[in-house]
Amino acid sequence: MVDNQTVLVLDFGGQYKELIARRVRECGVFSYILPGDTPLERIRAYKPLGIILTGGPNSVYDAASPKCSPELFELGVPVLGICYGAQLLTHLCGGRVAACEVSEYGVTEGKFTEQAGDSPLFAGLSGPQEVLMSHSDYISDLPEGFRRTMTTADCPTAALENPARGLYAVQFHPEVTHTKNGLAMMHNFLYRVCGAAGDYSMEDYIEKQIAAVRAQVGDSRVILGLSGGVDSSVCAALLSKAIPGQLTCIYVDHGFMRKNESDEIEEVFTKRDLSFVRADASDLFLGALQGVADPETKRKTIGRLFVEVFQAEAKKIGRVDYLAQGTIYPDVIESGNDKAATIKSHHNVGGLPEEIGFKGVVEPLRGLFKDEVREVGRKLGLPDFLVNRQPFPGPGLAIRVIGDVTREKLEILREADAVVREEIAASGCEASQYFAVLTDLRSVGVMGDFRTYDYTLAIRAVVTGDFMTAAYAPLPHELLARMSRRITNEVPHINRVVYDITDKPPATIEWE
Ligand code: XMP
Repeated sequence: MVDNQTVLVLDFGGQYKELIARRVRECGVFSYILPGDTPLERIRAYKPLGIILTGGPNSVYDAASPKCSPELFELGVPVLGICYGAQLLTHLCGGRVAACEVSEYGVTEGKFTEQAGDSPLFAGLSGPQEVLMSHSDYISDLPEGFRRTMTTADCPTAALENPARGLYAVQFHPEVTHTKNGLAMMHNFLYRVCGAAGDYSMEDYIEKQIAAVRAQVGDSRVILGLSGGVDSSVCAALLSKAIPGQLTCIYVDHGFMRKNESDEIEEVFTKRDLSFVRADASDLFLGALQGVADPETKRKTIGRLFVEVFQAEAKKIGRVDYLAQGTIYPDVIESGNDKAATIKSHHNVGGLPEEIGFKGVVEPLRGLFKDEVREVGRKLGLPDFLVNRQPFPGPGLAIRVIGDVTREKLEILREADAVVREEIAASGCEASQYFAVLTDLRSVGVMGDFRTYDYTLAIRAVVTGDFMTAAYAPLPHELLARMSRRITNEVPHINRVVYDITDKPPATIEWE
């Protein structure tokens, strides 16, 4: 547990829990997500500065709907209920919730009531407010002692409060950018209602983690499987500062990285205060993939070899007491395990040779969201290409060469992919992830006076927030045409370029 002031975000199944927690942190206050029905003793143990109840898909009258204890509102800790959280607060404090005649979805106009004039939650705000609504129940009767501070055309109580008890509730979602002054409202809750000191920052996080890692490992040796991804790179940078000279990073080069990527990674980390081991295993990986066209077999083969190479390198180092991992807060939330540090089986990290018998796992980024990890990386001086790196699959280009993988195909893809990434980056178009795929299809073309029979390259670019669903990026035709011209001119053996215009679902982002 950190010693920063902490706001607890109690999760009632809303899709916005992470967003709420991130917004609180953006305001300079540490936040932590717990299940909505967390027992009071556990909540008290955090000595929370404030509590935020998230939205959720349920109705408070469903027997199965998640609930907190009514005593939560007697702790003397300020509470802000959002959407379902607002209804739950109302219900448990003695008010009433009913089904809406007209459900409200989307941005609507909220009007402050006269009583909002001295509401600390809305300090500094006046006039109509753009607020995002998404609900089919509404607050029909206020609990005793509460006052209504906002209404909308379809929602008589869009906000209510009992300042004397420190209880606030909003039917709308202040955490989303569609609610124009939402961040100001959250800031008000934290600073005017909870009296936050604003003691959470990335500089502070780095300092505390450095001290914690030193206390944990003493002068023992630590190893880290470095993939070149954001999390393991930032983890390496932080540990090289915390325990200079005690960290060994093992970079398994499977030969499926993008153009110049492995050399660039090596250059960055050999300059840091750590031992960088580049295990060049490209022949081994390529040999094992010979004639393998099935995507799952490819992935499994690569995963298995990755672990084997990592283990063989780890054994060469001798006595190592700790394994470092770039686990971040969303990994912890997803695994539903916020207690013990466990060892990730993900092949990017490398499996654990059990016989090494580590004393423990070091996870200095465990408390951070992705955007915070990037900020830590920037503060530790990592270059842009690592800090802002797009997701890249563990098996690398081997799953972007469709069908069996050869050195020649990898070379073709590497060159074409470099053009795609250069052009889309330079265009400034909005795309979350973009890359090239070498299809297994060959077709007839003509170049000069000659007939060609060469590969078709596919360009993939998607817009997404969470990578679970994605929309294809509507790239301008001029950009597509420029990429096509450059690739067919500059990259031998590609005579046709196509653009993948499929969303996820039904497609996935990667082709294999
Ligand atoms: P799909 O293809 O499932 O990909 O839509 C979703 C996101 O995950 C990335 N991806 C991976 N990342 N190891 C990773 O670390 C993998 O094996 C892997 N496979 C897919 C993909 O690039 C996209 O961002």
